[in-house]
Amino acid sequence: MLKEVIATRFIGPLREGGSLPGLIEADDLGTYVLKFTGAGQGRKTLVAEVVCGELARRLGLRVPRLVTVELDPVLGLGEPEQEVQHLLKSSGGTNLGMDFLSGALGFDPLAFEVGPEEAGRIVWFDALVNNVDRSWRNPNMLRLRDGLWLIDHGATMIWHHNWPGAPASAARPYDASDHALSTFAPDVAAAAAELAPLVTGELLAEVTAEVPDAWLAGEPGFDTPDELRLAYARPLLARAATVHRHIHGLGEDQ
Ligand SMILES: Nc1ncnc2c1ncn2[C@@H]1O[C@H](COP(=O)(O)OP(=O)(O)O)[C@@H](O)[C@H]1O
Ligand SMILES: [Mg+2]
Repeated sequence: MLKEVIATRFIGPLREGGSLPGLIEADDLGTYVLKFTGAGQGRKTLVAEVVCGELARRLGLRVPRLVTVELDPVLGLGEPEQEVQHLLKSSGGTNLGMDFLSGALGFDPLAFEVGPEEAGRIVWFDALVNNVDRSWRNPNMLRLRDGLWLIDHGATMIWHHNWPGAPASAARPYDASDHALSTFAPDVAAAAAELAPLVTGELLAEVTAEVPDAWLAGEPGFDTPDELRLAYARPLLARAATVHRHIHGLGEDQ
């Protein structure tokens, strides 16, 4: 399970993102980016953040540490903005937190060089989870001195919005032409050789076990959270071996 912290102070909303994440302080004295369970995108966004974030980390990519954040809606009482107050009020209980990377800069593909190996690993991972949110306009990568950090995996695994169609949807190719790293000659074949063998049923069981039951319970068609965990693992397991052959838009095939 992810470490659980309790929010002690709401610092304020983070304005850059589309989903209005917040910044909080917690009882362990940490500062976290908070993704609200009551946000319009719903709890599936949070499930995607955990499954993809924890998978990426285990594949050796840099992802800020994830925690669950218990939030008392009372923290929102002093919030002047109605939108923010509404989010806090509707997000009592378990939310997602992410280590706030203080001093991180947004990734700018024109100002920062990425090697083909690292670009390949990130593009390959994004193809695996079908991430449509790492584009030039919105890279969702941060830069620290030690390198690139991946954030914002809410818009991945589109198949979890329609489970009956998941096998067909998961078999679809990945269009990388808009990817923030598409111009860095990503070596996706090398990444596949290195990373695909690591994506085993065992690893995916470990990753999906990190998702709190509260975000999995009550999904139509599934009797238990563990059944749904298996449904998350299946398409990723099926894609891992061959997805690198179904990545379009990287140059060779244009
Ligand atoms: N862990 C973090 N550390 C520092 N800044 C962050 C972190 N996570 C998000 N941010 C900042 O907040 C913005 C919005 O967060 P993001 O996760 O992309 O949410 P959204 O779904 O709203 O796009 C990011 O573009 C980034 O500038
Ligand atoms: Mg974002």
